[in-house]
Amino acid sequence: MNYRVLVTGGAGYIGTHTCAALLEQGCDVTVVDNLSNGTVEALQQVEQLTHHTVRLVQADIRDRAQMHRVLEEGAFDVVVHFAALKVLTESLAEPVKYYDHNVGGTAVLLEAMQAAGVRNLVFSSSAAVYGTPDAVPIDESAPLLGSNPYARTKAIGELIIADQVRADPRWRAVCLRYFNPVGAHESGMIGESPLNLPTNLMPIVCEVALGKRPRLQIFGDQHPTPDGTCVRDFIHVMDLAEGHVRAVEWLMQGPEQACLNVNLGTGNGHSVQELVQTFESVSGKNIPFEIAPNRPGEVASVFAQVDLARDVLGWQARRPIDSMCADAWRWASRAG
Ligand SMILES: NC(=O)c1ccc[n+]([C@@H]2O[C@H](COP(=O)([O-])OP(=O)(O)OC[C@H]3O[C@@H](n4cnc5c(N)ncnc54)[C@H](O)[C@@H]3O)[C@@H](O)[C@H]2O)c1
Repeated sequence: MNYRVLVTGGAGYIGTHTCAALLEQGCDVTVVDNLSNGTVEALQQVEQLTHHTVRLVQADIRDRAQMHRVLEEGAFDVVVHFAALKVLTESLAEPVKYYDHNVGGTAVLLEAMQAAGVRNLVFSSSAAVYGTPDAVPIDESAPLLGSNPYARTKAIGELIIADQVRADPRWRAVCLRYFNPVGAHESGMIGESPLNLPTNLMPIVCEVALGKRPRLQIFGDQHPTPDGTCVRDFIHVMDLAEGHVRAVEWLMQGPEQACLNVNLGTGNGHSVQELVQTFESVSGKNIPFEIAPNRPGEVASVFAQVDLARDVLGWQARRPIDSMCADAWRWASRAG
């Protein structure tokens, strides 16, 4: 599988794991990242891990001239587009910034791809596009209802891509709707290390385990779920990374279907409390927690219908929740 792949946002959490998976399959990888939430060191770790080099272009995807240059010089087969801002609460406070990076950046990327004749795209979407679902498991036919600016930028990204594919039949695209990525590469060499204060559950749990925070806040224990805490479809980041490899392969086989929206989850829900208990048992660390009020608009239970990924992409998540916790902890305890 020796494709030339451009990975935007490849220095970030899911990007580094996907770069590792692509390199291990023999792809040639170039990353465009502005390093606002990713690091050169993380990509160096990817190189050490895979014994392959990654080309890094430090650039912002909204920089039209740079993006045209990168795309025109690279002779890429496919683009995997991660670069985006992703903090839901920040998107409520600074919506325009989110539309600028996530929607404006995507439009610049597509324009540069079209100019360079690169027409295969894998897009990082999110289960957030479903908003508050009527029923679980959620399948891909559920309406796009994103209930916050971040989620809406992802839904709009999908719509722009679908319109581009409709306008030019030479385009092929896969929008991958991730559920809740957690964990780290099994080697412990790469993982999730946000440059700003962590907002996702697992990095916060790791900080509590390391003594960097006194306790975890769990938002609500009276939700209509078996133990009252929210239920999510946690997915190991390496399963997610392998889902991207399958999406690239699928695109490169020149599928009839031009635009595919597909859930990447395990299909199983686990409660926040269950995740914390599993983490405690695999790490041997006690995770003190307190119950905080429900967050506004918090959905009690979300998990994916995963048949489409299995049937069309031939992909299924393989790693169980204890591996997610053990691998996250191996990374966090090494990284300190
Ligand atoms: N982590 C999650 O829980 C989750 C869930 C669903 C969807 N996603 C999506 O997956 C993608 C990757 O998420 P992640 O968790 O790896 O985030 P991340 O912040 O770790 O990685 C994003 C990378 O993009 C870069 N970046 C941001 N804006 C940029 C810009 N304008 N130009 C160039 N580079 C830019 C950052 O420096 C960072 O390295 C994002 O699109 C996110 O919305 C993430």
